[in-house]
Amino acid sequence: MTATPPPPMSLLAELTHRCPLQCPYCANPVELETRARELDIATWIRVFEEAAAMGVLQVHFSGGEPMAFQGLPELVQAASRLGLYTNLITSGVLLTAETLKPLYDAGLDHVQLSFQDADPNEAERIGGMAGAQAKKLEAARLVTEAGLPLTLNFVIHRQNISNVPAMLNMAEQLKARRVEIAHTQYYGWGLKNRDALLPSRAQLEETEEAVAQARLRFGSRITVDFVTPDYYADQPKPCMGGWGQKFINISPAGAVLPCHAAESIPGLTFPSVKDSSLEEIWYRSPLFTLYRGTDWMPAPCRSCSQKEIDWGGCRCQALALTGNAGNTDPVCKQAPGHSAIQQAIADRPETPPPLIYRRYGNIKTTG
Ligand code: FES
Repeated sequence: MTATPPPPMSLLAELTHRCPLQCPYCANPVELETRARELDIATWIRVFEEAAAMGVLQVHFSGGEPMAFQGLPELVQAASRLGLYTNLITSGVLLTAETLKPLYDAGLDHVQLSFQDADPNEAERIGGMAGAQAKKLEAARLVTEAGLPLTLNFVIHRQNISNVPAMLNMAEQLKARRVEIAHTQYYGWGLKNRDALLPSRAQLEETEEAVAQARLRFGSRITVDFVTPDYYADQPKPCMGGWGQKFINISPAGAVLPCHAAESIPGLTFPSVKDSSLEEIWYRSPLFTLYRGTDWMPAPCRSCSQKEIDWGGCRCQALALTGNAGNTDPVCKQAPGHSAIQQAIADRPETPPPLIYRRYGNIKTTG
């Protein structure tokens, strides 16, 4: 029997899928929600009240670009009043002195700012937005000037991985407290662009060396988080800390999900905050109990000593690569589907193909 889980630690509020950037590895689903279907402010505040009552500790305001959602300061204020730690996950391109002040006054605790590269031209090519880098640099300056803790996030891949040392230097120059060097995850938009983004093993090894040196140099001043590409790992990542164990995601339209990509899994019913309470959904909905714990696991997970460490890996990756979300994540060397990973690495083209940009309803590429 799977034990009753504790309440979720963190709630990811995906306020909108609208975003000025078009990153080809975006974590949003390929089918983006329109503005007309977004939850209103009153519903979000009711959700935060339910979350705080359950024991949730943190709210991450995300998107799309959460600063494109009108009413963000009201949401930060409500979450803050409820005692929730508030984190803004932003591209920074809409962050100015005028838009930051109401968030600061509302009690915002932390800002996580994404960059597409340290090189401005490459960053703007990858993000698909001219002029973005200068806005981001100014956003970083404003955040630290306001005294808010700043985390920089770099999603890395074969087209920017050689600039990791420059990214780490940027974190130091911008006075970040933390920097995340995180490899692209290959589902949704990332999977569409896998051949354009998957690094080589040699590139990965160079990055590991750069991260190790930066950690020595930074000491306790700046924390460096490093997420490796799991295609080169022996063991899958414990995606979301296990399905329905630590995190709860809410989509712009109010679907309550164990992870941001769960809506890609066919045949499931996705509960909504419009119909049920968070508590009902977390503890009793078929969606959250489906892959929670270890009862659902197939062989070889079922008898594996790591099963309560990696939780069978990522359900969305298992679906994307094997056609069944209930299979072992093929990243695992013991998984029957592991050849899909080996094949993807073997088939990685010498020259990356054009990027497929994240856009509503169309798939446009560029070289
Ligand atoms: Fe859905 Fe990993 S992204 S379980």
